[in-house]
Amino acid sequence: MEYQFSERVQNLKPSAIREIFKYAADPEVISLSAGNPSPEAFPVRELAEVSNDILTNRPIDALQYSVTEGYVPLRDFLRDYMKKTHHIGRDFDDVLITTGAQQVMDLTTKSLCNEGDVVLCEAPSFIGSLNTFRSFKVRLRGVRMEEDGMDLEALETALREEPAVKFIYTIPNFQNPTGITMSWEKRKAVYALAKKYGVMILEDNPYGDLRFSGEHIPAIKSLDEDGLVLYSGSFSKVIAPGLRVGYAVAPKAVMQKMVVCKQGEDVHTNIWSQMVCDGFLRRYDFDAHLARLRDIYREKSAYTMDLLDKHLAPYITYHPIDGGLFLWCTLPAGVDMPAFCKQAVLRKVCVVPGNAFLTDEAEPCQSFRINYSTPTDEQLAKGIQILGGLIREIVEK
Ligand SMILES: Cc1ncc(COP(=O)(O)O)c(C=O)c1O
Repeated sequence: MEYQFSERVQNLKPSAIREIFKYAADPEVISLSAGNPSPEAFPVRELAEVSNDILTNRPIDALQYSVTEGYVPLRDFLRDYMKKTHHIGRDFDDVLITTGAQQVMDLTTKSLCNEGDVVLCEAPSFIGSLNTFRSFKVRLRGVRMEEDGMDLEALETALREEPAVKFIYTIPNFQNPTGITMSWEKRKAVYALAKKYGVMILEDNPYGDLRFSGEHIPAIKSLDEDGLVLYSGSFSKVIAPGLRVGYAVAPKAVMQKMVVCKQGEDVHTNIWSQMVCDGFLRRYDFDAHLARLRDIYREKSAYTMDLLDKHLAPYITYHPIDGGLFLWCTLPAGVDMPAFCKQAVLRKVCVVPGNAFLTDEAEPCQSFRINYSTPTDEQLAKGIQILGGLIREIVEK
């Protein structure tokens, strides 16, 4: 059979990360390529207690069809929590529970974009979101990243040059893949530019609660007096990604369209998962849980950065992080990055080539991403030592 695919999907390729996961499945390969929470970060006992309680006492509520907007007590909790803790949510906003934050990207693009519209994104940016945007045949334009977030001049040039921009996509905290956090000054400036040019901002914040050092910086959404910002949150990195519970805080008018789109996709987010999240948040001390996660990641990231200093310096540089799960490593000029990543896999260490995160994968890139949260300390030590040996062989030969 010769399959005739839709134009929407014809040019979509499997993500480089998923492809690399094929190698990572080899038990001998040390995978520094995932983006998973640390195995010790999962509140397993608490989730078992909550789930058991739900299935024993309210089984039909958890197993029956439910409403598209999401489980009412969880929406109420989030409305309250986001307002009190993050100053997010005005009278014109509401909360929609989604199937992971990934679905927020999908519903936002479906609701706002026509074919040929433009989405401005950080370059590099999260491949899962880029692929979602691409599937709606929007054009992606990357905006160069600086140490404190997007290059504002490049952002304004893009806004001036592109008449069909629908939204600016940003991951302001511990960005995937670079680990960069946008400064408060830049957050205010990005908001002001969005307002000036009449475009929306999609603020994707799955890592904000995983800050283990430095000062908290408020969300762009906390500035939103004009209904310009669509905020995306997730329980994937702070409770468990397998639950697939994310949420959007969005202007009601936009949310209504997202709800109609969601009805056609999955009717509603898994109601058992939503009840488990809600039960966990209400029954246990969420702030204490987050503090425990921060302790885990502070220690593990420091251990990893020490290894990078020991084995990769002076040849490979990296961006030190205050939170999140990723480290962005840059090879010296003249070293072929894709060849380096391939050589690493042959030596049984898997990292993600940086060009996978660009709007145009063919653009040159000297960086690769490593994840420190999933491997064990032993795997980190061995994997980073192998990368160090490889770069020395290449540079010193
Ligand atoms: C920046 C970013 N946004 C969104 C997601 C999707 O998360 P979720 O598991 O909530 O769908 C991820 C997952 O890694 C991510 O890194």
